[in-house]
Amino acid sequence: MIAHDEILTRPPPTMPRTDADPFTKEWIAALPESDASLAKLGPAVWLDRYDSIAIMTHEPVRKILPDWRRFTSTAKPFYDPFTLVPPILVVQDPPEHTVARDALMRFLSPAALAPYRAAFVADAERIVDAALAKGTVDAVTDIAAAFVLKVFPDMLGMPQEGRALILDFGDAAFNTVGPRNAIFEASMARAAPAFEWVDHHTRRDTVTPGSLAAKILGLSDEGIVKEEEAEFLIRATLAAGFDTTVLGIANILGGIVRFPENWPLMRADPALVKNAVNEMLRYDPPARMQGRTALLDMEVEGINFRRGDQLSLLLTAAGRDGARWAEPERFDVRRTGANVGFGGGIHICMGQVLARMESEVILEALVKKVAAIEPAGGGGSICRCG
Ligand code: HEM
Repeated sequence: MIAHDEILTRPPPTMPRTDADPFTKEWIAALPESDASLAKLGPAVWLDRYDSIAIMTHEPVRKILPDWRRFTSTAKPFYDPFTLVPPILVVQDPPEHTVARDALMRFLSPAALAPYRAAFVADAERIVDAALAKGTVDAVTDIAAAFVLKVFPDMLGMPQEGRALILDFGDAAFNTVGPRNAIFEASMARAAPAFEWVDHHTRRDTVTPGSLAAKILGLSDEGIVKEEEAEFLIRATLAAGFDTTVLGIANILGGIVRFPENWPLMRADPALVKNAVNEMLRYDPPARMQGRTALLDMEVEGINFRRGDQLSLLLTAAGRDGARWAEPERFDVRRTGANVGFGGGIHICMGQVLARMESEVILEALVKKVAAIEPAGGGGSICRCG
């Protein structure tokens, strides 16, 4: 643990510093060039506006993510303990983290998820057929969001009505991982109905009997977690499991549209669909930044940290690190090698089996039915499927 007044607000004497702001809409729209301009300053750069050290290369990010004994998750930069976002898992260290994680993991293992696959496949086929009937589709709304908002709320037993609000909830939750800027304020303002909806539908008297949400609440009946913690666990899946996966599927399609040579390869060898998910996690990871706070004075990969330093680990920059990846700007489904898009160590994404299953199933349906995907203009996510 670290007390609030121990957080350091002065830069280390020799570290490059900048007043650039990597968390604005303009910066995000200009990725990866904007991150590259920061990475040019060094692997670690002090962000004057946020009193945080941005880590820009693969190797230190890979080493710091799992190192919870020296880099805590309980005092992340930008994290507000009074936020409405569930105060569980990503903002915990062991032993509390282990209890919560082991409890929820029961329902997110490959064996626990396998029975849902057939329903996912049927939904994917229907959604791709509907997109094909339109011809020109918005990859985000017509494919990625349409699919994720069908299969995952069905699993959780959430009602049809209002389920799109879960995206606003996830958006607001993820924006609390960054600074309180215009993006944060806008998503919080939008999210009031979503918080109300999520709060209502994650309680014992409203969850659907037999659903995944009901099973998670059942953890409190077994005395594994408290009732309130079980509700937090359901909300954590809603916060973490929707816009990430929607964005992930959309980012795969974005990579394919930019590098169309991948599509015939995937059609010829559908096993490459798995690689496409990995490549997206490197090339365009939906969870762009993870935070940690240093608990000791120490050195990692030549970077000196002090107790109280707040770190912003930029997974997007790590994925484009030329020292780790050949031709990092190329989306290539044949690429192999582990990346950090799902994090690493004790906090590695708990929904990764589910996210992979969703992404693979919708891509398999597309690979089967769609000969070509091309940009159709009118915005980055609009494409023509034929
Ligand atoms: C492509 C989709 C996804 C991406 C890119 C993603 C990414 C991540 C990352 C990077 C972390 C690590 C956070 C850290 O180190 O502090 C994480 C944690 C987590 N993810 Fe995901 N995620 C995705 C989908 C999902 C889904 C579908 C779920 C649904 C259950 C989910 C649930 C969680 C939870 C509960 C944690 C916290 C784990 C812990 O702290 O132990 N994620 N995710």
